[in-house]
Amino acid sequence: MELVKVDDLRVRFKTARGCVRAVNGVSFSIGKGHVLGVTGESGSGKTITASSIVRMVDAPNAVTEGAIWFEGENILSSSWKKMKQLWGKKIFMIFQSPSAALNPTLRVSSQLAEIYTAHYGCSWKTARKNAFGALQSVGIGPSLAGAFPFQLSGGMRQRVLIAMAIALKPMLLIADEPTAGLDNECRGAILNMLRRMNEKEGTSILLITHEMEDLRKLAGAVAVMHHGRIVERGAVDEIITAPRHVHTRHLIGDMRILPGR
Ligand SMILES: Nc1ncnc2c1ncn2[C@@H]1O[C@H](COP(=O)(O)OP(=O)(O)O)[C@@H](O)[C@H]1O
Ligand SMILES: [Mg+2]
Repeated sequence: MELVKVDDLRVRFKTARGCVRAVNGVSFSIGKGHVLGVTGESGSGKTITASSIVRMVDAPNAVTEGAIWFEGENILSSSWKKMKQLWGKKIFMIFQSPSAALNPTLRVSSQLAEIYTAHYGCSWKTARKNAFGALQSVGIGPSLAGAFPFQLSGGMRQRVLIAMAIALKPMLLIADEPTAGLDNECRGAILNMLRRMNEKEGTSILLITHEMEDLRKLAGAVAVMHHGRIVERGAVDEIITAPRHVHTRHLIGDMRILPGR
């Protein structure tokens, strides 16, 4: 069953130098419990597509058209009140820059605990216990749980966001290049956490990545973007072994292909 359906999404930016067509007629859907990988060169419209799903294209000069269907409603015309109900709890987005999503003035354990009090009505004591549990499950032990975001590495901050997603149990998790800039070990750990969420909780995932290994490990289907359009889509193995579009062939040539899953 379909969880989210993006239908002919078009996003353009009006700039002093004219109109930038960032997303130019993108359509795809993600089924419940499925993972869609999205790849494509820098500037091809991946982030703008993903941000549109959470209505967080952060620019006053953006014009968005098309439809994004989620639970029978077009997100693009939903009220902000409705969006508040979707954010976090139903659709959670891990942005490219994890620090922007964290409160710099609060210890990460407190940020996690707030989720448990706000969304589950837990007492502060129970919330803190759950927060430590969620952080532990992403490899952040008690000694680091009390840290402020600036005291953590990029990979650790990414883990905090995944812990938040684990706490919120969203139906759809959007992860925008969650492994970019991380070393192999850290990348593998992050992917395993996402995979666990998918397998254990049935979370649907939209995974944006430049890494072929990420796609192989997590995604069932892959869409390749180029200049704001999806130029190729198919099963992950098909795309890797027999790319049809010339642009996909270039992209795959640039990616590091590591053996096995
Ligand atoms: N606020 C903005 N104003 C003008 N152009 C923008 C803005 N934000 C993004 N773009 C342009 O939209 C295109 C798609 O961007 P993006 O979705 O971030 O690409 P990707 O995530 O694939 O690297 C790029 O050409 C980018 O320069
Ligand atoms: Mg991007």
